[in-house]
Amino acid sequence: MDIAFEDILRKQDLDRDEIQVLLAAEGDRMQALLRRGLEVKLSHLDNCVHLRGLIEYGNVCEKDCLYCGLRSGNGRVERYRLSDEEVLSCARLAYELGYGSVALQSGERSDPEFIATIERLVREIKKIGGGSLGVTLSLGEQSEDTYRRWFEAGAHRYLLRIESSTEELYYKIHPRNEKHSFRKRLGCLESLMRIGYQTGTGVMVGLPFQTPGHLADDLLFFKRMDVAMVGLGPYIPHPDTPLYRLRDLVPPAEKRMDLTLKMIAVLRILMPEINMVAATANQTVDPQGREKAIAAGANVIMPNLTPGEYRESYFIYPDKACVKDQPDQCKSCLDIRLAAIGHKILYNAWGDSLAFTKKKDAR
Ligand code: 5AD
Ligand code: SF4
Ligand code: FES
Repeated sequence: MDIAFEDILRKQDLDRDEIQVLLAAEGDRMQALLRRGLEVKLSHLDNCVHLRGLIEYGNVCEKDCLYCGLRSGNGRVERYRLSDEEVLSCARLAYELGYGSVALQSGERSDPEFIATIERLVREIKKIGGGSLGVTLSLGEQSEDTYRRWFEAGAHRYLLRIESSTEELYYKIHPRNEKHSFRKRLGCLESLMRIGYQTGTGVMVGLPFQTPGHLADDLLFFKRMDVAMVGLGPYIPHPDTPLYRLRDLVPPAEKRMDLTLKMIAVLRILMPEINMVAATANQTVDPQGREKAIAAGANVIMPNLTPGEYRESYFIYPDKACVKDQPDQCKSCLDIRLAAIGHKILYNAWGDSLAFTKKKDAR
């Protein structure tokens, strides 16, 4: 390996050009980068993986993102929403399995009934085990007032991926209309941070038209925003969406996986103390994808708790992992898979982002 590359690898404050050098690494260089991601993680955090039991509340969505199977324009999905009792029994299961936190996710809705239901559900979830479950929401763009209501109900983390931090690329993967505004999305992230949520964002890797420069800008965007959490995953073309037509512009699965891992490792170097999700999409492009993401610097996994009968209706992208597995199967499966790479699950803990906790304590 040449000295220039080794030098870049040892830095923490990487600039755009240096990030691109790292993202272009292949073979031995790529392996050295992934090892560095792990090394930085272990020196700032530990070998513990935090779990968020994922509850896919509903797949009704007002939006029409060009890549997503749940888009309102897709007439081939059977739409569902969980009853309060179904959500709460998932949350109780998370508590019994020792997951420590749940993440409530759904298609985007902003009607008053939805807002009130989520508020009620968050309050009920917080009662389980006397407030012992951490609550993450991933429910899209909402008004600051709505975000505040849910925060006051007890939610303390929120995930809203920017999808691409480059406005031009954003509008290549979203319709250009008032429902899909890049500026509004940025505003939502700012609202979430202002309210005091542990705020997470992220992008898809391997999108049509996406360049290494875009990806470097995404990483610098996370850093500039000083977010507490990031979720990165490969883009997976969905046949019932408009973007599928451009699938020839999408790198092969192996390349998308490698690029995702390199993004994780570089981001771990740039932001050593954030929480980073090993997205389930990783496992769709590579059976070992999530473990590889953990071994490159990620530290959070979101095992699915959605009742089996609904899982096949939550096809954001095709071939989602664990669709036929029961929650307790995933739990033992994860224990074994993580032990094999020298990691362990931290049970019964919220698993807050160290970056966030430190910032809060400093205030
Ligand atoms: N491939 C990969 N990820 C996708 N998402 C939506 N559609 C796809 C796809 N086809 C991701 C988006 C969104 C999250 C809920 O799922 O990043 O924010
Ligand atoms: Fe709806 Fe989210 Fe899918 Fe966009 S990505 S269509 S907002 S579920
Ligand atoms: Fe679900 Fe392995 S994590 S079966």
